[in-house]
Amino acid sequence: MRRKVIAGNWKMNNDLTGSKDLINKLVQELKNEKYNCEVIICPPFTSLAEAGNLLKGSSIMLGAQNMHEEESGAFTGEISASMIKSTGSRYVILGHSERRTIFKESDQLINKKLKAALKNGLKPIFCIGETLEEREKNITNNVLKRQVTVGLEGISETELKDIIIAYEPVWAIGTGRTATPAQAEDAHNFIRNLIKEKYSKNAAENIIIQYGGSVKPDNSGELLSQPDIDGALVGGACLKADSFIAIIKSA
Ligand code: PGA
Repeated sequence: MRRKVIAGNWKMNNDLTGSKDLINKLVQELKNEKYNCEVIICPPFTSLAEAGNLLKGSSIMLGAQNMHEEESGAFTGEISASMIKSTGSRYVILGHSERRTIFKESDQLINKKLKAALKNGLKPIFCIGETLEEREKNITNNVLKRQVTVGLEGISETELKDIIIAYEPVWAIGTGRTATPAQAEDAHNFIRNLIKEKYSKNAAENIIIQYGGSVKPDNSGELLSQPDIDGALVGGACLKADSFIAIIKSA
C-alpha cells in the first residue's frame, strides 16, 4: 500500500509574516483534524528557516521549491542542497514546469539537481508533464518518457526510493483546467510502467506519483481515488489554510 502525499507549492507567495500566519493556521487546524496522508509545504527560501522552527513537533514536513546543483561556490543568488537541509527541510521540488519554461531548465540540468539533492539527503519531488501543444500533437507519452529517462539517468533503484514523481500537465497548472481523472490516471499508469521498465516491478509499485495542476477541494477526491494517483502537488489552493486542509482531508 502506497501512502498518499499532499504537497503545497507556495511558489513566489508569502513574505515572512504571511508565511508565519499560514503555517500557524495549518499547524493549529490540522491538530484537530483526522487525515490519512503525509503533508509537505514548500514555502519560498526566505521563509524556510522560520518554517523549520514553527514546524518542530508538527507532522507537517518542509520542502524547498528549487535548488542549485553545485555544493557551494561563486553562484551569486543561488541556494545549495545543504543550505536547504539546514533549515529543517527534507524535500525539494525539482523540474517544476515553471523552472523548465521560464528559467529554461533542461532535463540534463534537472538530472544533476536530482543527484545533488539525493547526495545531500534531500528527497526530490521530481516534476514532469507535457505542454498543451505536446498533448495536442499526441506526443504526451514521448515527452514523459524523455523526461523520466533523462531526469533519472544514473539514479539507482535504492536512490529512487527517496524520489516522489509529480505528474503536472503544463496546461493544467494555474489555469483552472484540470486533467480529467481518466486523463490523469492514464498518464500516471504510463509513468509507473516506465519505472517498471527502467527499474523493477517492485520499484514501480512503491513509487509515489502525485498529480498537480489546478487541484482544488472540489476535484481532489476524485483524482486521488484513481489507482495510480498517490497524492497531489497543489499550487493556488495551498495558499489558504481552509482549501489546503480540505484537499488533505480528501486524500
Ligand atoms: P496549481 O499549481 O495548483 O495552481 O495549478 C500546481 C503546481 O504548479 O504545482
